[in-house]
Amino acid sequence: MSDILQLLKEKKSQELRQDIDLILEGQYKIAYEAMLDAYNAGLFVGLIGPVGSGKTALCRKFAYDLGLPFNWVTFSDLVRPSTLIGSLDPTLVFNTGFTEEAFSPGPFTVSALQGGVFLANELNRGDEYVLNTLLDALEEKKLYIPSLRTWYDVDDKFYMISAMNPSETRGTRKLPSAIKDRIKVWIHMTYPSKSTELKIVKSKVEEYNLPASIIEKSIELVAQIRSDPQIEQPASIRSSIGLARLTAETARRLQVNPDTTLLAKSAMLILPDAIKLKAGRVPENYIKDLCKRILGVSA
Ligand SMILES: Nc1ncnc2c1ncn2[C@@H]1O[C@H](COP(=O)(O)OP(=O)(O)OP(=O)(O)O)[C@@H](O)[C@H]1O
Ligand SMILES: [Mg+2]
Repeated sequence: MSDILQLLKEKKSQELRQDIDLILEGQYKIAYEAMLDAYNAGLFVGLIGPVGSGKTALCRKFAYDLGLPFNWVTFSDLVRPSTLIGSLDPTLVFNTGFTEEAFSPGPFTVSALQGGVFLANELNRGDEYVLNTLLDALEEKKLYIPSLRTWYDVDDKFYMISAMNPSETRGTRKLPSAIKDRIKVWIHMTYPSKSTELKIVKSKVEEYNLPASIIEKSIELVAQIRSDPQIEQPASIRSSIGLARLTAETARRLQVNPDTTLLAKSAMLILPDAIKLKAGRVPENYIKDLCKRILGVSA
């Protein structure tokens, strides 16, 4: 057996549903409780927030806690109705004809029939034609499978949660009103408070023993970027995690104590490409100035 075939067999994910190690405080706690209320009220929920603010992580945690089977799709132009609904397997059609036996269901169909949770991740990156395939299942609790030319009953337990960036974000579209109106509870997220982000980053560098002062400085760098009106796309939580981890790892390799000089080096490797400035400013110079101002270090 070839190596890659072996890996495909070994690494097959048995369970998409997974307990996510989440700091459930501040905006995350508020959002989680609103999601729970929406779920109990039988209303679909949508999370909107900037890149890397913790939407997908929260949805995955929520889905895990519901204890239902879990499936998800991350929408893009490549997601077609058949990606969601499923399609006929031509080789099986050859033997059985256009029957349910020859049908290979997509994740949305599996969730709808099984009564699971479906995460529509980056929902507003899908095109309208594709999003329309969800409508009947959400409202009328009926799912049409075109290749079988048959309607199916959606299980009562089926629930959809969705996460997306605001419609100004590059690559997104304005959500069509038909789907927007079927998602009744909208939760707007932003970046966490400094104290919550500190806990998040700490939880991601546990193996390193990184001093709290370096994590605080990492967070201060991204906080300054987020509050600057000259910034079009700020640095995400992934950037603060990245700053802390890269600084810790570099210090480990060099066998020195992690300090602000190493943090400034990490900042130059991570931040210029993580942010987008308004026209006319060079990201590298911006981050150099920031390191000088916040860390007192020439990067
Ligand atoms: N409350 C939290 N507790 C622990 N980790 C978190 C929390 N929120 C976010 N993270 C971590 O921050 C990173 C970014 O989170 P996530 O991928 O959920 O963001 P997102 O809002 O879905 O981003 P995007 O808009 O790019 O899809 C992940 O590594 C995630 O594990
Ligand atoms: Mg996400």
